[in-house]
Amino acid sequence: MKPTGSAISDVERVRDAADIVRIVGEHLTLKAKGREYVGLCPFHDDHKPSMCVVPHKQIFHCFVCGAGGDVFSFIERYHRMEFREALEYLAERCNITLTRRGGHGGPALRAGSEAGEHGSESHATESHATEGRATRGQLAEANALAASFFRAILNHEDHGKIAREIIERRGISPEMVERFTLGAAPDRWDGLAMKVDALGQDRELFAAAGLLKARETGGHFDFFRNRLMFPIRDQIGRVIAFGARIIDEEDTPKYLNSPDSPLFNKSAAIFGLHQAVQAIQRERTAIITEGYTDVIACHQAGIEHTVATLGTALTPGHATILRRLCDTVVLLFDGDAAGLMAADRAVEVFFHETIDVRIATLDRYTDAKDPDELLKREGGREVFDRAIAGSVELLDFRFARLREKLAGAGLSALERATTEEIRNLARLGFHKATPIRRQLILRRLAEITGLKESLLADQMRQAKPPPSQYIEHEESRPSDKDLVMSSGSATDPQRLVEALGCILTDGSLWIALTEEERDLLSPESFGTPAARAIAGAVREVAHAGKQPVLRAVLDTLEDAAVKAQAVAIQTNTEQTTEERLAASLADCLMQERRRLAEQKLTNTQAQDSESDADADFASLLDRQRKQIEEFGPDRRKIARASGH
Ligand code: UTP
Ligand code: MN
Repeated sequence: MKPTGSAISDVERVRDAADIVRIVGEHLTLKAKGREYVGLCPFHDDHKPSMCVVPHKQIFHCFVCGAGGDVFSFIERYHRMEFREALEYLAERCNITLTRRGGHGGPALRAGSEAGEHGSESHATESHATEGRATRGQLAEANALAASFFRAILNHEDHGKIAREIIERRGISPEMVERFTLGAAPDRWDGLAMKVDALGQDRELFAAAGLLKARETGGHFDFFRNRLMFPIRDQIGRVIAFGARIIDEEDTPKYLNSPDSPLFNKSAAIFGLHQAVQAIQRERTAIITEGYTDVIACHQAGIEHTVATLGTALTPGHATILRRLCDTVVLLFDGDAAGLMAADRAVEVFFHETIDVRIATLDRYTDAKDPDELLKREGGREVFDRAIAGSVELLDFRFARLREKLAGAGLSALERATTEEIRNLARLGFHKATPIRRQLILRRLAEITGLKESLLADQMRQAKPPPSQYIEHEESRPSDKDLVMSSGSATDPQRLVEALGCILTDGSLWIALTEEERDLLSPESFGTPAARAIAGAVREVAHAGKQPVLRAVLDTLEDAAVKAQAVAIQTNTEQTTEERLAASLADCLMQERRRLAEQKLTNTQAQDSESDADADFASLLDRQRKQIEEFGPDRRKIARASGH
């Protein structure tokens, strides 16, 4: 938990400036619904919008998986950042200068250094670098540093000369060099290595990011040498890796990528997403090309909803990110052969994700080898548009092949091809598709083969692979719920949780509480660590002279799982008017007192000292009567309704 000091005001300033609707809306498409916004939850496999963003509370909340929190928790979870990273990222986005910076001068990889330097602001220390392991934040800083080094090389009179010539010859405009922050790796073994030393940075960190490689004889050398550098960014623009093209045409391989790291997963990364995200949301479509240079050429031609995978087919990892932003992806292939190869994997994706996949191939429209070449030609844009407009829905694309195969085939060839297609569809995850999708596919298959749908459905059922054979694509990291629930067998008194919800809804209720009531709500009264932390935060905020309403409490909490729990507790509070909240709160506390008294009664009965418990119970009733007198009829109605 953060202390109530200058750190809080940083958090508050950033939170107030970073409108949660805008920030979340940059990650998934939100639709207005009354006073709130809804969208597909990115924290579970969501297929109808179950994430709700509430502007007046500045929170998000998922009805299904229970994820929830404020704008910081959203960024933390979505990008797997630590709290401080999320704070710094949002501060930068909102042009806010933090009163206290991270403390360290750069992305040094030193075990445990962070906690010390952050001093009293230290948070979640265990998620910081442990001995020898770089955090995602540190890796991103190393990449950012390398990106600016490569940029400087590109602009260097001598060292960047050939790279600049290539860029010019390829017709990449200065605007695009800027937009994609292109750079160049120098033609030597120790360019970046020397820079790292000169900056007093840790070579091990750059090695962990794949930028330097360790020599067997000791020391390090540059991983990228004499190459045009394409920074690969995540959705919010952090450099997570590099794509690097040869400058000398004799070198191999033509393209080189950073190795996978905790920050970079090649099979889920999308080149150009950061630059394309707004256009993708606007067009509700993403065009996926094969290469980096194609993406740049498209953006230069004003086709900004274009991205590329990194030399891989479309994977469920890509689709999961894209379907939050759009309804359709168009896979644009240079030639038919590549399209055919990638189509199988795309079918797999299509079964998993509710996103429409279309296939477009360029070689039916032009002899240009790729979009880059096409768009540099006179009238290239029109041809490009025609190719996109002529894209074919994935299943049509697939079934067109099957139809060709079946045309004029003999009986046994037909049987073989049909059985094979059924087996393939089953293997690719047919049974994971929605019932409607399955039905539509079967109908189409029936049309093509001339067989009955019911027969095909039967065959499909038999071809269903056993569960163990399903490839599990979703990253299996524990959800907030798991984290909160995993706290042993501890439970929280239900009524106290509800009382907490009332206070989180209307912080002014705290002021009216008696000392005894505040004690009831003390952290020790709760069983789970999450509820204890929330109760502690309520108390802390109140001590600081503020109303412990959800917003303020979230600012004091840092653990994302605990924040989610706070949001869930508040969201479960049904009463909305001030009066009813007060009544509900009093009722909850009353019932809790009663429960405690009864508990005591049962405990003491064994020792045959009932008189004590009786006295307890009598005093409880007495207190209750007094309160009813004090608070009037509303309170009484509630009390009576619940059997008092
Ligand atoms: P291309 O060979 O079509 O590259 O590979 P390109 O984009 O047209 O490049 P230029 O125009 O010759 O400069 C397409 C994509 O395949 C991946 C890269 O992502 C590349 O952008 N690729 C290609 C590799 O990963 N490694 C390779 O060796 C080649
Ligand atoms: Mn190409």
